[in-house]
Amino acid sequence: MVPTGRTPTSNRLAATATALTCAVALIAAGCTGDDSDGFRPGAADVGDPYVPGRGNGGYDVTHYGLDVRYDPSTDRLTGRAVITATAMQDLSRLNLDLIGLDVGTVSVGDARADHRRDDGELVVTPRDGLPHGRQFTVTVDYAGVPTAADGALGSGGFLHTADGAVALGQPDSAATWFPVNDHPSDKASYDLAVTVPDGLAALSNGVPGPKSSADGWTTWRWSERTPMASYLSTLVIGDYRVVSGSHAGRPMVTAVAASLPATGGAASSLARTGEIVDFLASRFGPYPFDSYGGIVVADDRIGYALETQSRPVYGPAFFTDDRPNPGVVAHELAHQWFGDSVSLSRWSDIWLNEGFASYAEWLWEEHDGGRTAQHNFDLQYAATDWSQPSVEPGRERMFGTAVYKRGALAVHALRRTVGDDTFFRILRTWTTERAAGNGTTSDLVALAERRAGRQLRPLFDAWLVGGSAPTLP
Ligand code: TRP
Ligand code: ZN
Repeated sequence: MVPTGRTPTSNRLAATATALTCAVALIAAGCTGDDSDGFRPGAADVGDPYVPGRGNGGYDVTHYGLDVRYDPSTDRLTGRAVITATAMQDLSRLNLDLIGLDVGTVSVGDARADHRRDDGELVVTPRDGLPHGRQFTVTVDYAGVPTAADGALGSGGFLHTADGAVALGQPDSAATWFPVNDHPSDKASYDLAVTVPDGLAALSNGVPGPKSSADGWTTWRWSERTPMASYLSTLVIGDYRVVSGSHAGRPMVTAVAASLPATGGAASSLARTGEIVDFLASRFGPYPFDSYGGIVVADDRIGYALETQSRPVYGPAFFTDDRPNPGVVAHELAHQWFGDSVSLSRWSDIWLNEGFASYAEWLWEEHDGGRTAQHNFDLQYAATDWSQPSVEPGRERMFGTAVYKRGALAVHALRRTVGDDTFFRILRTWTTERAAGNGTTSDLVALAERRAGRQLRPLFDAWLVGGSAPTLP
């Protein structure tokens, strides 16, 4: 789904270029549907400079139905994706993001569609143009050995592990294992069936469905009903201790790699998921999804955690001391409100995710009997390099201190300025009004001003982007 009002300029530019080429060359075959009837190709890119080439224009995905099989002995993945989307213009052609992998057949509706590959793109030309507003399905059969994505940090994508695989990464990773409109501005629901050799677990987002086995293979099913940004999807396959239970009437599934200690820091930290989520809900408003959980992987190459929707994935390094680390759990769970339910419209606003998740660590620490949020603020204020901005940090600094820590300082400065009541009312209004949607920094500032009944733009500017230490509120 796409938030209203998004009309990428690149769409119009691409259409103009095609129309010109067609008019000049008069090669009718290459111009089917692109000219006088007003049907034109969707943009190959959503126009977000932080992720060049990612995302696409001209349509809006509502659902991904994914059916994949993965064989760890050959690293091969075989998949079928059924993508339900709506045309947002008269559409002659559309792109999906897909990195590596071989595409077999592609259909739009019941009809075979022409397709070709262009770098990280799968270009699909339906037999008939898709009129603006038309709902349609694209079915893609594909297979191959998935590769790592070439993302901003170079760490995302599809990782083959000792016992299986982990598909994970930010700002992009999904296109390494399924065809996708790979940008958080187009969120969709998901159903996933994943078939792996008997004995291995296959974990993903959302509510678990029935498992079935045949001929030495087991199919695990997952469904995420609340619209999800593609980078928040995950696939974790391997030897895991899976604990299936429930919390607050919804399924809770946690999993720890079997090679990690059964009673160590990983397991004891994950075990606090329900308690931490309830604390955060008391501050941010109702938990936004139908299920809970968390996954701890053992592969050292995963040196981070990611807030994959409803079920964050944690790298092993957070728990090496064999001690609990509820702080990282609080961070990833806070993202369920900030980032997952209310998602970015563009990556340059990444502080909206990381600033609030970092601030939630301070709230949790105070609640858990550690330092107060004010104490953490004071320490961080003294340590901050004010030359680095939180908003538009640049692609290379998307996950830098200015985004995480300076972002958290800005959140606390807002709290000190407007007072606790108004502050938490702003947060709850944000998570309610934009639940399952998107938002920008300007949207947040406008909301804060509305709730507080005063101008706050100068405050946000000083704390987020100003070049020197702001005066303390
Ligand atoms: N967003 C993650 C967090 O703070 C961290 C992160 C940054 C990350 N870049 C990543 C995770 C790349 C996975 C891949 O919780
Ligand atoms: Zn984070």
